[in-house]
Amino acid sequence: MPDDKGAARRKKRSASGAAPPAANAPEPAIAALLDENRLYPPSPEFAKSAQVRDDALYREADADLEAFWASRAAELDWFVKWHKVLDWNVPDAKWFVGGKLNVAYNCVDRHIRGARRNKAAILWVGEPGDRRTLTYWDLYREVNRFANGLKKLGVKKGDRVAVYMPMVPELAIAMLACARIGAVHSVVFGGFSAESLRDRILDSEAKVLITADGGYRRGTILPLKHDADEAVKQCPLIEHVVVFKRGDFQVHMKEGRDHWWHRIVDGQSDDCWPEPMDSEDLLFTLYTSGTTGKPKGIVHTTGGYLTGTTATTKWVFDLREEDVYFCTADCGWITGHSYIVYGPLANGATTVMYEGAPDWPDKDRFWQIVEELGVTIFYTAPTAIRAFMKWGPEWPAKHRLTSLRLLGSVGEPINPEAWMWYHKHIGAETCPIVDTWWQTETGMILIAPLPGVTVARPGSATRPLPGIVADVVDEKGETVDVGGGYLVLRKPWPAMLRGIWGDPERFRQNYWSRFPGVYFTGDGAKRDKDGYFWLLGRVDDVMNVAGHRLSTMEVESALVDHPSVAEAAVVGRAHELKGTAIVAFVTIREGREHAAAILDDLKEHVVQKIGKIAKPDEIILTADLPKTRSGKIMRRLLRDIAEGKAVGDTTTLADPGVIARLKTKYEDQES
Ligand code: PRX
Repeated sequence: MPDDKGAARRKKRSASGAAPPAANAPEPAIAALLDENRLYPPSPEFAKSAQVRDDALYREADADLEAFWASRAAELDWFVKWHKVLDWNVPDAKWFVGGKLNVAYNCVDRHIRGARRNKAAILWVGEPGDRRTLTYWDLYREVNRFANGLKKLGVKKGDRVAVYMPMVPELAIAMLACARIGAVHSVVFGGFSAESLRDRILDSEAKVLITADGGYRRGTILPLKHDADEAVKQCPLIEHVVVFKRGDFQVHMKEGRDHWWHRIVDGQSDDCWPEPMDSEDLLFTLYTSGTTGKPKGIVHTTGGYLTGTTATTKWVFDLREEDVYFCTADCGWITGHSYIVYGPLANGATTVMYEGAPDWPDKDRFWQIVEELGVTIFYTAPTAIRAFMKWGPEWPAKHRLTSLRLLGSVGEPINPEAWMWYHKHIGAETCPIVDTWWQTETGMILIAPLPGVTVARPGSATRPLPGIVADVVDEKGETVDVGGGYLVLRKPWPAMLRGIWGDPERFRQNYWSRFPGVYFTGDGAKRDKDGYFWLLGRVDDVMNVAGHRLSTMEVESALVDHPSVAEAAVVGRAHELKGTAIVAFVTIREGREHAAAILDDLKEHVVQKIGKIAKPDEIILTADLPKTRSGKIMRRLLRDIAEGKAVGDTTTLADPGVIARLKTKYEDQES
């Protein structure tokens, strides 16, 4: 009785109450969200002393968008002022044309002249419990010495430098050192596999790789240098590998190619002239998943990026001089770039970096850090919040969290239950929560509350920030004033991506072709009668798994790479904790014997190809996949099966019988 099982599963999922709306959320999910009537205005005390206290910024931006952003840019230190604020030729934007500045100078040098010289810039906590504090003065010296070291290795302005490191201060130092000398960093998340690293190095044509002997994660060692060696074997352009010694891990150092970090900086001067960069010179590339199997290198430039991240850090997190700001992301993602390193440091803030897992050695690790460092602002992902909920309120209750005054969320829609839990158990019902919507491509937060002004609603990222013109449109690109549709951005913004590395056509196609002249985010959204935006997840083949972007195609390519696999189709299914779980439907090659261990084998193969984050939650072996007469796999139907829903229209299928067979198979395998 397959249908009964499906119904039971549906019930189980909705009873958990924690699953966020899935991609392509059906109407009931939207309706449930919009029934969300709880309102959380800023408290009078918070509003009174907030960085932004009224809607003047919105009005200023509405009156003159370019002048508005120029005022924000003027808060940075420029070597040469721009002569034109914006040069906009869809889809190519140039911000602050002719201006010259240096990002490292803005993040470090300008703070060492005054009272911030001995202020903590980075408070670092290693997973085993070791701690380091780098003041702005320390950071200045470390960045300069490493920048000089890179120069000595021959790194010049415009060269690409790949970075594959654990969350140690040297990761931020490496990024800033590149920025200082005008090299373009491309940070690759330490959890990615050797093959993923290799692909990114090859695509960016990096000539130097910065890594570490290893890093700690959940008590085990991440074998970074080992994986880097594997990757570099197939990267002929890599001339040097710099290795930071994080632990006492056994690694092989290749004579002439590999250099210990401490040797590179030894004897280097504490001063290194910051390269005056053109506002539109490249700052970094960062790879993210799109709808195809090949990740794309998102390109960010200098002046606009720093203007956008600096201003939004101040507004959205209400950043003040005395704050201790803790963002739990990894610098391998855009959140780490914009809101651990560049935004906070440009504001002269104290930013916390933590190396390890949230549940190591125990499930109160974050709360222990909050207590020990007196964290005031805490920024994490809904997937983490749902894990905290599962672990129970007793873990945060063990700690004094009274230093906290503001909480943030990023990466996926935050379901109202998680919002309420965060508010109650972490925020003591007093901290405002900022739900921040943005993307690797946007570089900066675009939709979020201003915590001293906006009335928050659990589950809504509220309204576009000042200077951001977002819209919800229908299939034809026409504005939907109230209701659901596609989220687009109608006007350029300073930190927007400037392209996809080496692929201008894909840039146009991906973002600018669906609705000509406007940027398509790939997200669905609903706008309510008060103008609040409710994000509904991806409308394309990109999955958001535990806050990380992966394309279904990427996982499919990894699966079909296995010698036993003939065909694979991957879909996302709502998951209580991770937001989305990966479900793969796989056809095994004829004549291939498949042992019982094949499922584990296939999962491991994906881990090898991409990394742990892409490991499928479930693999269903099937003799055939639902296809149209022209041979296209209908993933929509597979998603229905994986979600335990009534299967949609099957009339275009070449063999409608395949669905019934698959459903039975799926439900048998699940039970
Ligand atoms: O679907 C949206 C979701 O994450 C996507 C961007 O992923 P990535 O480039 O990896 O950047 C994540 C960190 C900025 C978006 O297209 N997303 C991000 N923030 C939110 C969100 N969905 C709903 N609410 C959010 N606050």
